Amino acid sequence: MQEFFDICSEIESTMCLIYRRMAHAVRGNEKLQELMLQLAKDEADHANQVRYARVLPQSESFAGVKIGKSRLELLLLKAQSLLRDLENDPPTEKHALLKAIELEEEFIGVHVGTAVEFKDEKLKERFSMLARDDEKHVGTLRAYFNAFYSPVT
Ligand SMILES: [Fe+2]
Ligand SMILES: [Fe+2]
Repeated sequence: MQEFFDICSEIESTMCLIYRRMAHAVRGNEKLQELMLQLAKDEADHANQVRYARVLPQSESFAGVKIGKSRLELLLLKAQSLLRDLENDPPTEKHALLKAIELEEEFIGVHVGTAVEFKDEKLKERFSMLARDDEKHVGTLRAYFNAFYSPVT
């Protein structure tokens, strides 16, 4: 369980770094830069919330995890490799948006809110809010993309 939270918080912090890196790459576009910085802030907050979950009394709070560790590890690797790519080769605005949408969509499926079975209802609500946050991220990114480029299919 704790290992699961470790990988999850690592993914959230990597997402935060990815958005910071993207914000820097699109700094000529103030509106998009602001959007990316807001997303970076949200991901930093997600990482903190997952770290909080890690230190809760595990057997009283959670019943189990619905997804395998390898799937999470794969996603972490993917996020880390995207971060490296962005560092070596700053993306265009279009590329940054597409990559961010792709990663957010994949992550929604393994989010703590959806992947964990909670015993505590309040905790469940708290983490499903976190998952909704990332759904909003996809919505915001898609809306921006559609306004300036052709719609994502
Ligand atoms: Fe997140
Ligand atoms: Fe997100």
